[in-house]
Amino acid sequence: MPPRNEGAHRAATPTGPRRVVVGVAGSIAAYKAPTVIRLLRARGHEVRAVATEAALRFIGAPALAAVSGGPVRTGVFDDPAAVEHVGTGEWAELVLVAPASADLLARIAAGRADDMLTATILTTTAPVVLAPAMHTQMWANPATVENVATLRRRGLTIIEPDVGSLTSGDSGAGRLPAPERIVAEALAALEGPAGTAGAPRPAAQASPGPLAGRRLVVSAGGTHEPIDPVRFIGNRSSGRQGVAIASAAAARGADVALIAANISPEVLAPLGESTAAPGAGTVRIVEAPTALDMETAVRSEASTADAVVMAAAVADFRPARPGSAKIKKHRLAEPLGETGAGEPGGAGGESPAPIELVTNPDILAGLVAEPPQPGQLIVGFAAETGDEEGDALAHGAAKARRKGAHLLAVNAVGDGKGFGDVPNAVVVLDAQGAEVARGEGTKAEVAELLLDLIAERLPR
Ligand code: CTP
Repeated sequence: MPPRNEGAHRAATPTGPRRVVVGVAGSIAAYKAPTVIRLLRARGHEVRAVATEAALRFIGAPALAAVSGGPVRTGVFDDPAAVEHVGTGEWAELVLVAPASADLLARIAAGRADDMLTATILTTTAPVVLAPAMHTQMWANPATVENVATLRRRGLTIIEPDVGSLTSGDSGAGRLPAPERIVAEALAALEGPAGTAGAPRPAAQASPGPLAGRRLVVSAGGTHEPIDPVRFIGNRSSGRQGVAIASAAAARGADVALIAANISPEVLAPLGESTAAPGAGTVRIVEAPTALDMETAVRSEASTADAVVMAAAVADFRPARPGSAKIKKHRLAEPLGETGAGEPGGAGGESPAPIELVTNPDILAGLVAEPPQPGQLIVGFAAETGDEEGDALAHGAAKARRKGAHLLAVNAVGDGKGFGDVPNAVVVLDAQGAEVARGEGTKAEVAELLLDLIAERLPR
């Protein structure tokens, strides 16, 4: 039996001194960079410091020069004749960036070479280790999530930031870890995947997942139907179930278009992990805040998809005439959209006039009636509660027959099940309302169950 955690923790310090480029990007955490450099030099490694222009707004070049024992490089034109970015990239046996800002991650992911640090990273064949530090919302933003996934797929090492209080006064993921941990993880990367010290960084290699080459559209979240620019009609859907399905599909190698209605960055954040795994596919996020936006996005993305999973809670109705400016309280007492007509009501205990609603398109039923791609698999969700007319399953079966999707995952809401970060129980029905499968567990487990059923039914 192999030792526990074999491979998870490689030797922290390779033998012999190494040549390490320490990059510093523009983050308030740049003040920790000198400690990183000091720790490396104390272990006998040779360090060259490379700072971005933004980094030098947070920490002075003299401080970095003093701790590294040499000049600090910044621009590619500081000494053009020396072609320093090539020289520095070739000199390096390891490139460690601490802190790495959101902007730097984006520039590296885009293959930019507009300063000495990005040019060095583009040139080097040494392992590259990035220690991001930024505000939680920047870290959880889909752009950063995708950049991190891209960089990991290319074989760069990203050290997970710590969770804790941030300079802004907020609290969350995004803190630069302790310099000791950064140095230990960076030196471990020098050992290479198979203990080959100093090996060039590997291209991500993995056998493709079982859904490789498949395209899935997954809708998730809850639509917001505007009453005016500040008010909307919405629902409690967090988007977690849809994100879990997108994540699981990508982990199996599929390329997913996630049509996202008002999903918070925290809920989207796990997508970075699943797309970083070897053999994983991709998740592209398409924002669709309203039911009409969602219909357009789903139909357009579905035109090249093997399967569509409608996990979003789409509002059935929307205000007929949303206000273009914030509607004042007294005007809500008038029929919406009628400017100037009627007496201001509401004062003196009168009831306001009702907001006129119109019906939204039923996206799922529309996909079944007119599939954007012939033969594609259509999967729906139904959140049901029982009432005097029948239990949740009876309502689900009626809905399955009414909507005609190939599969309908019915989950009973209320009783602490279904909404928010709580376990789910689903019964999956076919288009005739007959039970195909049932399962209970976390949203990730429900996602796996559904993907098993989808994978079995995908057109060959
Ligand atoms: N759905 C849709 N378009 C809508 C409403 C719902 O595509 N305008 C989809 C949902 O994404 C889900 C399925 O239809 O996959 C069932 O949604 P649900 O809200 O349970 O059903 P409704 O048709 O709204 O029926 P009811 O509100 O009467 O239960």
